[in-house]
Amino acid sequence: MPSSVTTEVTSDAMDPADAVEFRRTMAEFASGVTVVTAVHADEPVGFACQSFSSVSLDPPLVLFCVDRRSRSWRGIRAARRFCVNVLAEDQAELCRRFGSSRGSRFDGLAWTLSAWGTPSLNGVLARIHGDVHSVHSEGDHDVVVGKVVAMERPRSGRPMVFFRGRFGVDAPDDRGAELAWSWLDGWI
Ligand SMILES: Cc1cc2nc3c(=O)[nH]c(=O)nc-3n(C[C@H](O)[C@H](O)[C@H](O)COP(=O)(O)O)c2cc1C
Repeated sequence: MPSSVTTEVTSDAMDPADAVEFRRTMAEFASGVTVVTAVHADEPVGFACQSFSSVSLDPPLVLFCVDRRSRSWRGIRAARRFCVNVLAEDQAELCRRFGSSRGSRFDGLAWTLSAWGTPSLNGVLARIHGDVHSVHSEGDHDVVVGKVVAMERPRSGRPMVFFRGRFGVDAPDDRGAELAWSWLDGWI
């Protein structure tokens, strides 16, 4: 059984070791993966997003958290309307494409403009189209609350799961190892 790890955070400015431990600890929380898209200045924009959640049923609200330095977020914010594309297990290539700052994200990609003016990605399990309702600046991220305008469930299938910086739930508990993706683009 691997040894237990406890870290107390004693100041707002985390030292680098605490930041590493924060990433490792948060990586124990498995989540689905989405790609949040929008059209800005006639161009599609989008980024891989793990921090997606429902907020309220009445009215229907959702949220995602985004790094304030994100270029895609600048476009989505200006567009004021977005689509959360919920990825399936077999869409790892799509996640890499939208989670990396390298390469052009929509080049050679099959996508369509939805009836709500947002980029719909093919092969996803669900799409939630929404308007930016409010933006809360917290730390180095913005918490974006969206009002749902339409929902789609184009197909059924197994979901993509992100856990310990990898796809799937079988990542080994190698406590000292670097997280596969977290380090590439600075995402938790
Ligand atoms: C699985 C996964 C989940 C991610 N989740 C988020 C997230 O919730 N919020 C965020 O700001 N970035 C997240 N990222 C990082 C962004 O996808 C991407 O690196 C960031 O948008 C930088 O690109 P941009 O400046 O073109 O927007 C995630 C990356 C991956 C691979």
